[in-house]
Amino acid sequence: MYYPDELIEEVRARNDIVDVVSGYVRIQKKGNSYFGLCPFHNEKSPSFSVSQSKQMFYCFGCGAGGNVFTFVMQYENYSFQEAVKLLAQRAGINLPEAEYSEEAKKRDSQRARLLEVNKEAAKYFYYQLRGKSGQAGYQYLRKRQLSDETIKKFGLGFANMASDDLVRYLRTKGYDDRLITEAGLGSFDEKYGMHDKFWNRVMFPIQDINHKVIGFGGRVMGDGKPKYLNSPETMIFDKSRNLYGMNFARTARTDNVILCEGYMDVIAMHQAGFAQAAASLGTSFTAGQANLLRRYAREVILAYDSDGAGISAALRAINILKEVGLTGKVLDLKPYKDPDEFMKNLGREAFEERIRNAENSFFFELRILQKDYDLGDPESKTRFHREIAKKLCGFSEEVERENYMEAVADKYHIGFENLRKLVYTYAAQTGLAAPAVRPKSGIQKKNDPRENQKKPQKLLLTWLVEEPELWPKVKKYLSPEDFTEDLYRTIAGKLFEDLDGGRINPAAIISMFAEEEQQREAAEVFNTKLMELATKGEREKAFHDILLSVKKNSLDYFSARLGADVLAITKVVAGKKELEELSKTHISLD
Ligand code: UTP
Ligand code: MN
Repeated sequence: MYYPDELIEEVRARNDIVDVVSGYVRIQKKGNSYFGLCPFHNEKSPSFSVSQSKQMFYCFGCGAGGNVFTFVMQYENYSFQEAVKLLAQRAGINLPEAEYSEEAKKRDSQRARLLEVNKEAAKYFYYQLRGKSGQAGYQYLRKRQLSDETIKKFGLGFANMASDDLVRYLRTKGYDDRLITEAGLGSFDEKYGMHDKFWNRVMFPIQDINHKVIGFGGRVMGDGKPKYLNSPETMIFDKSRNLYGMNFARTARTDNVILCEGYMDVIAMHQAGFAQAAASLGTSFTAGQANLLRRYAREVILAYDSDGAGISAALRAINILKEVGLTGKVLDLKPYKDPDEFMKNLGREAFEERIRNAENSFFFELRILQKDYDLGDPESKTRFHREIAKKLCGFSEEVERENYMEAVADKYHIGFENLRKLVYTYAAQTGLAAPAVRPKSGIQKKNDPRENQKKPQKLLLTWLVEEPELWPKVKKYLSPEDFTEDLYRTIAGKLFEDLDGGRINPAAIISMFAEEEQQREAAEVFNTKLMELATKGEREKAFHDILLSVKKNSLDYFSARLGADVLAITKVVAGKKELEELSKTHISLD
């Protein structure tokens, strides 16, 4: 849905950023701004700032920043449209209804109905567990050492012995058999009629990242088969794009996510204080899930079962993680089978120690590979070394590849030069891997060679926002084209217009960009740290230097484009003159 700019601006203006952020993060006033612990990275002392006058937030630690829309997008993991909707609702502004096609409307309402019926079922199971008929389930969970608090947090429940009580309950709530069937909560049978899918099982509601129940897993309380019965895939339950526990893990504020195999593992981990644990949903780990993880973590620690199946699953997962640019590490849980058992026996601190010692996924792969070779036999050993060399070709970045070659040579006692030759022989035959495309993320630090040119442009824009009264003195030297970064040029265009009109509104400028990454960069432009300079003379010199440097860069830029660009020639001629004049001019900051 497209909303007009004025409406977006109204929504923004009616949601004070300090109020909105306070609903999520504890912030305290310090000087002109509010400060708190950044919700977008893990930190111990506050570098997350919210400015009421600019209506922006900015984290000096990780560079996350933007206006109130950006904040909601990042915190809730919403699209721009979704953030506009939420904030409009908060401010009591009516947004025009999208002109849906009939079909889209139907789909949306069907999704909403499915979510409702799942929520109702989860409630029903939850109360059953606490009732008389749920005693067996409750005892089972307690025996598995889950606390009441944990049971509540994960909304665990119980489907009792009766074969159609849920169906009957849902009917009284107004859900028809078709919906119940489509949600996978019941089905029709010639012999038994309409009956429940789950009975006599403890129930694990599966939630999406927004805490909405999208399906269920139900476990038998003994050794029956299947051990877990899961909801079928439905319109709202895509097993390849959701992870169990991710609704909690996504706000864990750790750099890593601990990926487990089972529901019980995730729950045991959370109970022990590892809020970053998640698991796939009874199917193997997929690229869709890896993409989901990529939004919240850089590193994935695999805590898979220590048996053969767990090892193969880990090897598969490592490849998938690599494809989306995440690094993986593998935990050794031995002598225990899985995180749940480990936790019960050795506890939190021992687990932390295992995390610290987690094995780099590449070495894990080599160690498993090695089992197929007999290193006592020169023939077999050579074949092993060849395999290693082939795998090393998978690193696209030279520094990384070299580092791995060094480490591997050392670990497996292979001459470094020999290994290198072998690697390049294979590379010549098959080519090196293409560089992985890294996702853009507001949380990643940039290390861009253009940074040096960008810095003065940013500083100048920040300075003009903080001291708009300077504008009349410098406007004759500046035009938006002097900002050689596309994003900055767009910002300068709007900002200069506003400055001419005598009223600036930086937070509104940020809403010109719909992408989170652009909003973050725009916020950075308005929040670059200006040097703390003591004397007026120093400040004037700094400002002058920044201005000169922007003009100089602009001149270089257009000089390089002479012949390619009609604008260039006029810019170069004018630029030379302005630069000369500017270098002789004193600009007073009074
Ligand atoms: P596990 O057998 O390791 O289960 O299967 P678990 O979670 O550790 O359960 P407990 O500790 O034995 O109670 C791992 C995951 O595989 C899926 C479930 O998602 C389970 O959590 N699974 C397993 C099924 O979907 N169906 C099954 O029959 C078994
Ligand atoms: Mn288990």
